[in-house]
Amino acid sequence: MSGKKVIVTGATGRTGSLVVKKLRQLFEQFEVVGLGRSEDKIKQLFGSTEGFFTGNINEKSTLETAFKGCDSLVILTSAVPQMKSPPQEGQRPEFTFEPGGMPEEVDWIGQKNQIDMAKELGINHIVLVGSMGGTNPSHPLNKIGNGNILIWKRKAEDYLINSGIDYTIIRAGGLLDEPGAKRELIVGKNDTLLSNPPNGVATSIPREDVAEVVVNALIETSAKNKAFDVISKPENDDSAVITQDFAALFEQTTPGL
Ligand SMILES: NC(=O)c1ccc[n+]([C@@H]2O[C@H](COP(=O)([O-])OP(=O)(O)OC[C@H]3O[C@@H](n4cnc5c(N)ncnc54)[C@H](OP(=O)(O)O)[C@@H]3O)[C@@H](O)[C@H]2O)c1
Repeated sequence: MSGKKVIVTGATGRTGSLVVKKLRQLFEQFEVVGLGRSEDKIKQLFGSTEGFFTGNINEKSTLETAFKGCDSLVILTSAVPQMKSPPQEGQRPEFTFEPGGMPEEVDWIGQKNQIDMAKELGINHIVLVGSMGGTNPSHPLNKIGNGNILIWKRKAEDYLINSGIDYTIIRAGGLLDEPGAKRELIVGKNDTLLSNPPNGVATSIPREDVAEVVVNALIETSAKNKAFDVISKPENDDSAVITQDFAALFEQTTPGL
């Protein structure tokens, strides 16, 4: 019998699917189940629906079967902006959200539904992936589709911290689809890495590295009850020491929003 049972939501998302794949490789330590919205997408990404449940985080009752018996929950659901139509030359693209998919519904109510269900079922650790920028109400991401996405994400983070469940809140910088385990990761808090980035460092991080931070947050006790921002030094940076000691990385982080 494998160890800790983990449910990953947003399992068909770009970072969520990486977390599922990494946890599946660690089958002696973890039993992993995923929650997705579409069986077709699950099959496309994973070849079969084995180990997956379908549900919608906007409807709390659809979460119960998937969450039951799990020790930990990884929340990788997020509202996904969609371009309205290709922009005219020289115009900026306009974005919207699908019906039922506004950030208030997904990043606030949807995350709250998951936290409440986890609490009811005795799940004892929640790892929530969010975004840097939430301390600035005028952040451009809040303007996308008039969604105020970072404001709703931060409200859910606050709710999680006050839930009484052990938490790890990982607020990523801009996500890159580039290889992981090739960079030094840098942690911070309260968007100071955005307002005052270290010399020569873009405020971004590969999704692979975020997934690795998630997996290690499920392993290392020093990740418990911490909330932090995370970015990476560029690949091939001469001063970089590729991050391998995640316990030490989490020791640099602090509790509270
Ligand atoms: N993009 C960036 O540069 C950036 C920067 C910093 C932080 N972040 C944050 O990092 C996290 C991961 O980002 P990502 O780009 O990897 O995610 P993503 O690919 O956009 O995945 C989002 C997931 O949420 C799921 N979802 C949305 N509404 C749902 C609902 N009502 N019920 C169930 N599932 C629902 C989607 O399902 P489907 O697969 O069915 O669509 C998808 O799997 C997000 O919180 C994001 O905001 C992003």
